[in-house]
Amino acid sequence: LPLDQVRTLLAVVDEGTFDAAAAALHVTPSAISQRVKALEQRTGRVLLLRTKPVRPTESGEVLVRLARQVARLERDAYAELGLSGTGEQTRVSVAVNADSLATWFLGVLTRVPEELRLYFELRREDEDHTAALLREGVVMAAVTSSPDAVPGCSVRSLGRMRYVPVAAPDFAARHLGGPLEQVLLDVPVVTFDRRDDFQDGFVRRLTRGRSGASALRHYVPTSEGFVDAVAAGLGWGLVPEAQADPLLHTGRLVGLAPGRTVDVPLYWQQWKLDSPALAQVAETVTATAAEALRG
Ligand code: ARG
Repeated sequence: LPLDQVRTLLAVVDEGTFDAAAAALHVTPSAISQRVKALEQRTGRVLLLRTKPVRPTESGEVLVRLARQVARLERDAYAELGLSGTGEQTRVSVAVNADSLATWFLGVLTRVPEELRLYFELRREDEDHTAALLREGVVMAAVTSSPDAVPGCSVRSLGRMRYVPVAAPDFAARHLGGPLEQVLLDVPVVTFDRRDDFQDGFVRRLTRGRSGASALRHYVPTSEGFVDAVAAGLGWGLVPEAQADPLLHTGRLVGLAPGRTVDVPLYWQQWKLDSPALAQVAETVTATAAEALRG
């Protein structure tokens, strides 16, 4: 495929309109539309939905990802030749779930050697949905709960993130007197967002599938806000052990069900590219996760 056409497709998707892509590439809008049409004829597929902003079709996504990979390899090649031209940094886009970001993932950024000039663009997304961002070519790597390789990607196991059911002591005293499988049906619960099914899953296991957590719920969509909300007594919730342990020690939180925890296996998926930058990131991610997560 002609690379200028593939790059043009990427510019249109990133810029959102043919006009903006034309401005970014310093060509006329009609040149842009000719290149996209040529690429569509060559592949025999519709690649773009002419919406505002423009969206890639499923076939378009495959070529958008190709364009990003080519850009990645280009920059690696320049770096290897010592031609960091504009003193250019290397951007690494990664999709990562909030709880990883709040507990161990920043350790990765601080441990990547500075002289590699790697700069991260992190996208927060639920671990069940980060793989989709990889598939769409939005990011080049992801922390995900899915062990199934996205086409064109490699997978490594990172370990399990452990969650413990906790509440504030006065909340527990007031609301959690009886058997958990009964009281949890009616007491307020803290939930991360509409995609967070941890608390419902926990109650469903307790009740052998009879019921999820109570409909009395607060949605608090940051990890720090989530644990703060639980400690403030707004509801019970499942909190990563790295955040819960210190608060359990000082008595600001109490455990609901000693021994009952929820483990979430996490994986690292990234583009299968012979890219030194990505290889370095993968090494650092697996090493950092090995220290922070359960084996
Ligand atoms: N899966 C989401 C994330 O990490 C939120 C997890 C819910 N957290 C919780 N403590 N219940 O991005």
